[in-house]
Amino acid sequence: MPQTIIVLDFGSQYTQVIARRIREAKVYSKVLPYNTPISVLKKLNPIGIVLSGGPASVLAKGAPKPKPAIFSLDIPILGICYGLQLMASMLGGEVKSSNYREYGRGKLTILKKGLLFKSLPPSLTVWNSHGDSLSQLPKGFKATAQTENSDFASIENSAKKFYGLQFHPEVEHSEKGEEILNNFLFTICKCSGDWDIEDFTQFAIQEIKKKVGSKKVILGLSGGVDSSVAAALIHRAIGSQLTCIFVDNGLLRLNERDQVKKLFRDHIPGKLRVALAGGLFLKNLKGVSDPEKKRKIIGKTFIDVFDKEVRNLGEVDFLAQGTLYPDVIESVPIEGNPASLIKSHHNVGGLPKRMKLSLLEPLRELFKDEVRNLGRALGLTENVLMRHPFPGPGLGVRVVGSINAKNLRVLREADAIFIEELINSKWYYKLWQAFCVFLPVRSVGVMGDERTYENVISLRAVTSSDAMTADWAQLPDKLLRKVSNRIINEVKGANRVVYDISSKPPSTIEWE
Ligand code: XMP
Repeated sequence: MPQTIIVLDFGSQYTQVIARRIREAKVYSKVLPYNTPISVLKKLNPIGIVLSGGPASVLAKGAPKPKPAIFSLDIPILGICYGLQLMASMLGGEVKSSNYREYGRGKLTILKKGLLFKSLPPSLTVWNSHGDSLSQLPKGFKATAQTENSDFASIENSAKKFYGLQFHPEVEHSEKGEEILNNFLFTICKCSGDWDIEDFTQFAIQEIKKKVGSKKVILGLSGGVDSSVAAALIHRAIGSQLTCIFVDNGLLRLNERDQVKKLFRDHIPGKLRVALAGGLFLKNLKGVSDPEKKRKIIGKTFIDVFDKEVRNLGEVDFLAQGTLYPDVIESVPIEGNPASLIKSHHNVGGLPKRMKLSLLEPLRELFKDEVRNLGRALGLTENVLMRHPFPGPGLGVRVVGSINAKNLRVLREADAIFIEELINSKWYYKLWQAFCVFLPVRSVGVMGDERTYENVISLRAVTSSDAMTADWAQLPDKLLRKVSNRIINEVKGANRVVYDISSKPPSTIEWE
């Protein structure tokens, strides 16, 4: 077990950013729900605990609280924002609600450097986002910094190694935030900072072996980075006990099935079964245009097809998936956090009980770039690892509105042109994701002497580091012009191309 910092999640939109910053400092961190039992925490033997921020008020009835015994574990604790208020109120301090919300940048004046502000300048610009504030310190605590609006912007009980920050050191807008977190990790928790993805690989392999034993696993291989890395990792752990199943759901990109078969042959030695189910998916989706309904139908049909494959395979105990951390947090709602359920990702959320399969999700704690590093450590090549993400529901969420064979054909052909031009111009590798979207909108055009009345294709290209936020990419005019010309001239059924210039948030990357 590597040296571990536990981040207890109280529903902040920044929880995953805290975990990420810690891992960037080469310290293993794991996010757990706020009410994790003490016995589970103890088993992980953490050398520090961070209490995240959160949308609730500690004064509210039913406010999320950790088990009080965490304050008797003799482990350093850092409370951030709601985490500070929680720690202070649970240890005898007082929090008062305020009509005024401190939001955005503030000037922090450090009163006492102590260990947390070691080697930092006396004043910093920091990022705040809170309503309630601490009005009275608990016994044994001191204020160590203040802002214009708060006398208790930072507090500590150095004897117990309890620290609290009212601002968010994990966000980029907080000056020296990284140093503050590093002081907690290295000076206070005494982390050694030598964790890397190799450690994770070895640890994950042991965990998979322990969990699976001599049982059998099936994995839904999509050919994307996540499921390929999951397959390679699980194969490394349990070899031929793993069977991969590739479902052709009829919502794949041009020639995708053949590409996946080739990839499997070349990089993931093991057993692959291909289920041809395009007809069934299209039948179930007929006439459905609501995005959430489409997602649910695709997810359910996927599970049904799997169920059938599993029965053909005889005794199987586990279903493995390449679910990543952003899939988990965007799909599991935390009470009081409206941002937490955005889209229902079909690959998360559990299986019907009758399938009697347990989930095996070895990448559940990782971010995309960490998965790529893991893939490198497992020997996968760059052309597999640098593939853009492709959503589980596939082109089903890229044909806006109802899906039929003609819409899919138009989208596939347009998308292949866009991707080909991006690869040729080397832009593909600078982007997080790029694809075409089929719009259920027809517009008039003129080709030769003929009037056309065809559909519109939207190009989507974004930069991002983890899909939590994304910016539209500023592709060169020349490239856009070429892609547009080629699509309109070569794809029958499309006569207009538009470019999507929306960022996430407030838009999402996919259109549905
Ligand atoms: P959004 O559209 O929510 O997408 O900004 C964020 C990232 O997630 C991908 N995505 C999915 N991935 N199953 C997946 O495995 C899904 O149901 C799903 N929906 C969206 C999306 O392509 C982007 O990379």
